[in-house]
Amino acid sequence: MKHTNILLAGATGYLGNYLLNELLDNKNQVIAIVRNPDKWQNSNEDYLEIKQAEVTKAETLRDICKGINTVISTVGITKQKDGLTYMDVDYRANMNLLEEAKKSGVAQFVYVSAINGDKYRDLKIFEAKEKFVAALKSSGLNYTIVRPNGFFSDMGHFLQMAKSGRVFLFGSGHQKFNPIHGADLARAIVATLDDDNKELTIGGPDVMSLNEIAKLALTALNKPIKIIHLPDWSRKLTIRCLRSFTSVTTYGPMEFFLTLMAEDNIASTYGHEHLKDFYLEEAKNL
Ligand SMILES: NC(=O)c1ccc[n+]([C@@H]2O[C@H](COP(=O)([O-])OP(=O)(O)OC[C@H]3O[C@@H](n4cnc5c(N)ncnc54)[C@H](OP(=O)(O)O)[C@@H]3O)[C@@H](O)[C@H]2O)c1
Repeated sequence: MKHTNILLAGATGYLGNYLLNELLDNKNQVIAIVRNPDKWQNSNEDYLEIKQAEVTKAETLRDICKGINTVISTVGITKQKDGLTYMDVDYRANMNLLEEAKKSGVAQFVYVSAINGDKYRDLKIFEAKEKFVAALKSSGLNYTIVRPNGFFSDMGHFLQMAKSGRVFLFGSGHQKFNPIHGADLARAIVATLDDDNKELTIGGPDVMSLNEIAKLALTALNKPIKIIHLPDWSRKLTIRCLRSFTSVTTYGPMEFFLTLMAEDNIASTYGHEHLKDFYLEEAKNL
């Protein structure tokens, strides 16, 4: 698919940046919504237009979808500390985009949730994300719901632990995942842009246990293999304490991470970027 008018929200983020490059490489005409132009680096003037707007403020998005065929949103709270909740951003801000998309007759909306979001609706992050998914599905627009496994960017936590000489894991460490690189995920999303009403549950090419991931991180830093297994009850206790004593923006990401890491989360395998290579590259900068 080429030269379609695509509105991309989230281009300053990890996945959004890979998506932008993939769209531009495929000669799509892209409008990227950015709230902070200082974070902006891409200067492809032939196919890219930057619009400054706040997705959480509907009035700044007025008519932003005029002439747009496809909206892609990766907007969501990961590490942002804006004092906003998942409902404000993952749900409401995406609803603002959806309302503009409907008003302007946009054909398709691509939204990024996460693996097993539909299974863990009781988690704060998924309460908001899945509420948006439901609204999108009943909007009448063609939709793609992307449910990716953990991104390589988030697998950096293991490398940070490895730097101090040991990796802590809850439980046996046999739980399996296939994390995915942003570049692979962006390729998969852009490759399926022509599809209608699709749910894409997707992960990277390697299915690995947490023990294997911990070993990769320690090996990348030339550390001896030292993995400390904490009892699973301490994981549950940590989630309960975080819920009781911290705000949702603090406990939300931890609740998400600690809940999903307790069991296998395996998605369809895709791509050719390997976590081992990512760790070796990242380790050079640690
Ligand atoms: N990271 C993972 O392992 C993972 C796994 C599965 C699914 N996901 C989902 O995939 C999506 C993209 O993740 P990512 O890792 O690429 O996240 P990211 O790097 O944090 O990017 C998120 C994007 O959302 C924007 N955003 C967040 N809060 C905002 C606010 N209050 N107002 C305006 N814009 C806001 C960010 O803008 P700024 O740059 O201006 O902050 C950024 O462009 C998220 O919805 C995430 O939940 C992530």
